[in-house]
Amino acid sequence: MPRTTTDTVPRGRLSGLGQPVLESGTCTLRPWRASDQASVVAAFDDPDIRRWHARSMTAEEAAAWIAHWPDRWRAETGAGWALAVNDEPVGQISLRHLNHADGVSDVSYWVMPAFRGRGVASAALGTLAVWAFDVLGLHRIFVDHSTRNPASCAVATRAGFRLEGTKREDALHADGWHDMHLHARLAADVAPAG
Ligand SMILES: CC(C)(COP(=O)(O)OP(=O)(O)OC[C@H]1O[C@@H](n2cnc3c(N)ncnc32)[C@H](O)[C@@H]1OP(=O)(O)O)[C@@H](O)C(=O)NCCC(=O)NCCS
Repeated sequence: MPRTTTDTVPRGRLSGLGQPVLESGTCTLRPWRASDQASVVAAFDDPDIRRWHARSMTAEEAAAWIAHWPDRWRAETGAGWALAVNDEPVGQISLRHLNHADGVSDVSYWVMPAFRGRGVASAALGTLAVWAFDVLGLHRIFVDHSTRNPASCAVATRAGFRLEGTKREDALHADGWHDMHLHARLAADVAPAG
């Protein structure tokens, strides 16, 4: 059931709002810009980002990927932010399949290798969750990751996304089917310390 509080953004009204800039403490979540194209291409030079997001990224694809986020925001089907340090992208986080009507979304994230291990992903995930619960009125946000990706498991856990179970052979990667952990945080869950 979607939440129905009056102080959250009603369904169908996202398009009237600008996508916000959010501060996580370790980075700034800001909307993507066309000028970020080279950063997105550089991120996908990293084998781990290619592996866990099961895709590569040409310059043309990066431009199209950046350009599709404002449409997704207007359609209330998704929202993507650059994770920026000194205004330069060092990662991304997105509400990948946003269902504003039902109050549910999944989240995707990556951080460039040089900026890992500083709490960028976990702080961004926690910040996005609080905003999505408090402002969008979402009820449930989930993350799924391969059981062979302990870094993603640690990010989700640290951001208060409880492990709910293992989905057997739920995602096809380059080396075959992977079991996937399902983590989720509910609006009513107690936020993790810090
Ligand atoms: C997963 C990823 C986003 C983590 O980003 P990050 O900014 O380095 O994460 P944080 O610094 O917030 O670290 C969060 C936790 O992960 C742990 N962690 C980081 N790398 C790890 C690794 N390789 N193995 C195990 N734990 C790891 C950290 O120690 C920290 O745990 P702690 O709070 O218990 O100390 C980043 O490694 C990445 O982009 N990987 C490739 C793409 C990917 O896996 N995306 C997710 C797909 S589901």
